[in-house]
Amino acid sequence: MEICAVVMAAGEGTRMKSKHSKVVQMVAGKPIVKWVADALADANCEEQVYIVGDKQDEIRKILGEEVAYVFQEQRLGTGHAVMQAAPFLEGRNGYTVVLPGDSPMITADTINSSVKMMEEGDYAAVVITSIAEDATGYGRIVRDSEGNVVKIVEHRDANEEELKIKEVNSSMYVFKTALLLSALGRLGSQNAQKEYYLTDTIGILIGDGLNVGANIVSFDDTRGVNDRYQLMQAARIINKRILHKHMANGVQIMDEDTIWINEGVKIGRDTLILPGCTITGESQIGEDCIIGENTRIDNSFIGNSTEIDNSIVTDSSIGEECRIGPFTHIRPLSIIRDHVTLGAYVEVKSSTIDEYTRARHLTYIGDSTIGKNVNFGCGTVTCNYDGQEEKIGCVIEDNVFIGGNSNILSSVVLGKDSYIAAGSTITSDVPPLGLGIGRARQTNKEDWVSTRNRIRGAKYIELDRMRYEV
Ligand code: UD1
Ligand code: CA
Repeated sequence: MEICAVVMAAGEGTRMKSKHSKVVQMVAGKPIVKWVADALADANCEEQVYIVGDKQDEIRKILGEEVAYVFQEQRLGTGHAVMQAAPFLEGRNGYTVVLPGDSPMITADTINSSVKMMEEGDYAAVVITSIAEDATGYGRIVRDSEGNVVKIVEHRDANEEELKIKEVNSSMYVFKTALLLSALGRLGSQNAQKEYYLTDTIGILIGDGLNVGANIVSFDDTRGVNDRYQLMQAARIINKRILHKHMANGVQIMDEDTIWINEGVKIGRDTLILPGCTITGESQIGEDCIIGENTRIDNSFIGNSTEIDNSIVTDSSIGEECRIGPFTHIRPLSIIRDHVTLGAYVEVKSSTIDEYTRARHLTYIGDSTIGKNVNFGCGTVTCNYDGQEEKIGCVIEDNVFIGGNSNILSSVVLGKDSYIAAGSTITSDVPPLGLGIGRARQTNKEDWVSTRNRIRGAKYIELDRMRYEV
């Protein structure tokens, strides 16, 4: 059966109060309209046409030239929108799936089960419906005493009886293409909104003596996104779906309310994700890791058995059995190999750090190449910026030991197995096996305190406290 799809996406999205089309708003890291396109592709509806309006450029950028577009100059309603696709539909034999561009919850299952219903029943169309707790604003599905669908009536056109109906139109349909075209040709706009309603095609087909089926699915699967609140609701529901998928694959998610994982993220089994984590982009996390609490990983690779606590990792890769955090910032283009420890207040940017290297506290490593088994003393800084344009780090070879509070200037090479004395500012290369000291020699002045009568002692406890109180 030939199946094509028409997606209505010309709306202004006024209620979203955004500069952008509402169908390009992000849900779980993916634009709404892309969720729709992907569900269609999963259901093997490759031939898709999008009805677009003034903000079509944004939509084209997301969906590319794989799909077709039709510009709807004036927005005269959903029926009018689908009419614009007539040239695309004419001459086709099979089914047309019609979807709104603002419903990211649509799944391939919903599309497939509706197509199956078409195939098995003698239907001109199948409407996807759901039971809404609050049906306000939705078109109602009117059925006769035998339960057959008779028509769809819009909220604003409904009478008192019809308003009580809880079964609502999702604005998602499957039509026999030829019959859809025939019904579209007969739409009028005599209704409360003076619009061409796509919903009226259902009454028209039934008037022709044809049958229309209703595929009732869960309300969540049909939710549309019109405003910021609905956008949050949709993101929450889709996020939970994603989390449940990971749990089914053996990932332990500690809290489905505060953990946000984008579609496309891969996580190995027996990994534990703690509350407050956000994992986005094309991130890939290995097995047996512990991530969080409060950790943000974007577009990064994390090897097996690595632990990351309260940290941020962006566009980088971390090896196996590393210990990262708390409060570590791994900035883009960093490559951290296996068994590395980066502790509290350590920042790494555009650097490669080889196996078993440790920077446990308060260190900055930028644009540098670091060997294996290097020990960074607390407060080490790679001075990678000349204050003008150049950002050049240093090279630190295997087994180097750097004493606390040292500065290593741009382009310097610390040779294999060398030592740096604590508190040094290292401005030139240190040879392998050598010691680099770059600080003033200490001098002690004997009895300096007593000869100047400067002993502090216990009376200062009280004095200092009084000073802080004022
Ligand atoms: C529509 C249905 C209603 C259903 C509801 C489900 C009609 C008349 N009503 O109402 O029965 O319960 O969806 O959410 O169809 N669009 C265009 N061009 C237009 C008008 C709309 O492309 O001229 C697009 C919009 O961008 C949107 C979709 O069609 O993506 C639906 O339009 P919208 O105005 O949101 O319809 P509802 O009032 O929600
Ligand atoms: Ca809508």
